[in-house]
Amino acid sequence: MERRSSHWYDGDGRDAYIHRAWMRRGLPAHAFDGRPHIAIANTASDLTPCNAHLDEVATAVKQGIWEAGGVPLNLPVVSLGETQVRPTAMLWRNMAAMATEEMLRANPIDGVVLLGGCDKTIPSLLMAAASVDLPAVVVPGGPMLTGTFRGTPLGCGTSTWQLSEEVRAGTLSREDFLRSESAMVRSKGHCNTMGTASTMGLVAEALGTTLPGVAGTPAPDARLLEASHATGRLAVELVEADRRPSTLLSRGSFLNAIVALAAIGGSTNAVVHLLAIAGRLGVELTLDDFDRTGSGVPLLVDLQPAGRFLMDDLHRAGGLLAVLAEVRDLLDPTAMTVTGRPLVDHLDDAVVWDREVIRPRSEPLQPEAGIAVLRGNLAPSGAVIKPAAASPHLLQHRGPAVVFDSIEDLHARLDDPDLDVDADSVLVLRGCGPRGYPGMPEVSNMPMPAKLLARGVRDMVRVCDGRMSGTAYGTVVLHVAPEAAAGGPLALVRTGDMIVLDVAGRRLELDVPAAELAARTPAPAAVAAYAAPTRGWERLYVDHVQQADTGADLDFLVGSSGHPVGRESH
Ligand code: FES
Repeated sequence: MERRSSHWYDGDGRDAYIHRAWMRRGLPAHAFDGRPHIAIANTASDLTPCNAHLDEVATAVKQGIWEAGGVPLNLPVVSLGETQVRPTAMLWRNMAAMATEEMLRANPIDGVVLLGGCDKTIPSLLMAAASVDLPAVVVPGGPMLTGTFRGTPLGCGTSTWQLSEEVRAGTLSREDFLRSESAMVRSKGHCNTMGTASTMGLVAEALGTTLPGVAGTPAPDARLLEASHATGRLAVELVEADRRPSTLLSRGSFLNAIVALAAIGGSTNAVVHLLAIAGRLGVELTLDDFDRTGSGVPLLVDLQPAGRFLMDDLHRAGGLLAVLAEVRDLLDPTAMTVTGRPLVDHLDDAVVWDREVIRPRSEPLQPEAGIAVLRGNLAPSGAVIKPAAASPHLLQHRGPAVVFDSIEDLHARLDDPDLDVDADSVLVLRGCGPRGYPGMPEVSNMPMPAKLLARGVRDMVRVCDGRMSGTAYGTVVLHVAPEAAAGGPLALVRTGDMIVLDVAGRRLELDVPAAELAARTPAPAAVAAYAAPTRGWERLYVDHVQQADTGADLDFLVGSSGHPVGRESH
């Protein structure tokens, strides 16, 4: 079969000479004899601490590619450190996806191994691979080992929120809080809770884009390198078989991912990422599919933030395949994986080794745990809530709104002793959507007002057009669409208006007469971006970003342009 790379390297003319000669830095002549050239799209970066070990993973992948007769090529790509990047890594997800897409298309490669870990890295890599449609396989970088503080396991992310709230509540000294800092991250790897990074690694496996069984392998575990080596070998096989995202990923693959997302109690961020990846492939997937397919799926995995354990416990207990074996009947049996076999074929040997961590289907942690999609006059295009992370008594609620126009407004007034707020109030934060922030940050899990914290209040209904960290918890309505800055009715809410949350009825309503709402004008502060960007990526982003209910991709990046490149460079 004719290789894509042969369009660069084959022949005895000047151009092929140039392409080969500049690559001959130790590569033998037979590297250009028609064998597959495989890029390793590598998000290793010192500024993405969760991915800093991926060069080691890349070395193992390279060995596998060589061994199988391919030529490995390290390709550093844009990397996003969730804790480091301002104003939010989500602003840069689409930029990372676009840059990776273009570098995959521009270079002489036949396939790609995608190395990601921290929250946005696997989504951006999959979006890129979907648009270029070259054979692609993911190696999730894996979670860190569990650290402990004062004899108690720390959930990276989740414990940070909990400890900081304890300081605000006066139940933990600032000295002890700071003492926990060196214990929070015990080893290489990404956050060890069921946050977005863990979720997206597992979701990538449920989609069929990883070697089955690898997702969730802790980053320091020797088996990750063994699996990386095997993935390098598999990448060569993918090219030989011409197994590409468009031939592999079907609607059934995405529905399987939604089942997995619910069974593991995964992050709400997976909603925008899966919608964006599907959009790149032209696979029909809507927000309502998450509710239709996922909401009735039982929660089987007892991991923080919704439960007790951490990612190395899940791996020890059998991992994703053991979880999926419990819900096998809910999976699409035709959805394929990179192995060339359906996902369900890989469940035959799955065993649960710890029933505390992975519950049997007959004894779930929650019978119906998937993400619920809410609609109503406050969210005409939809909003989401994760009931598994919410307080059951707040899932049906009616209370007066306390409105904040921006995150700065929230920080300035939340702890004001004169703020008119009680436990029944509904905290509303707007101006945090894709366009309004810009970038849709993880700020929706607003802290409790200090005076309520002091009274022991630990959860309230919160409504926001932003996102929430996958490591966070609470009765939080997220991704309200359209966002306030795009003219959504969230911009019309006034402090004191009654808001009705009815998760069972899938409703989010502003209890204000329609005529009065029609007469209101949007609050100016709610529709203004914090500083309207005039240049660069932010300008492009604000002009073209879509709303959360379709994945917050840029309008001109939706779909695939494939991998042909018509013109030579010289
Ligand atoms: Fe990277 Fe949590 S900050 S996964």
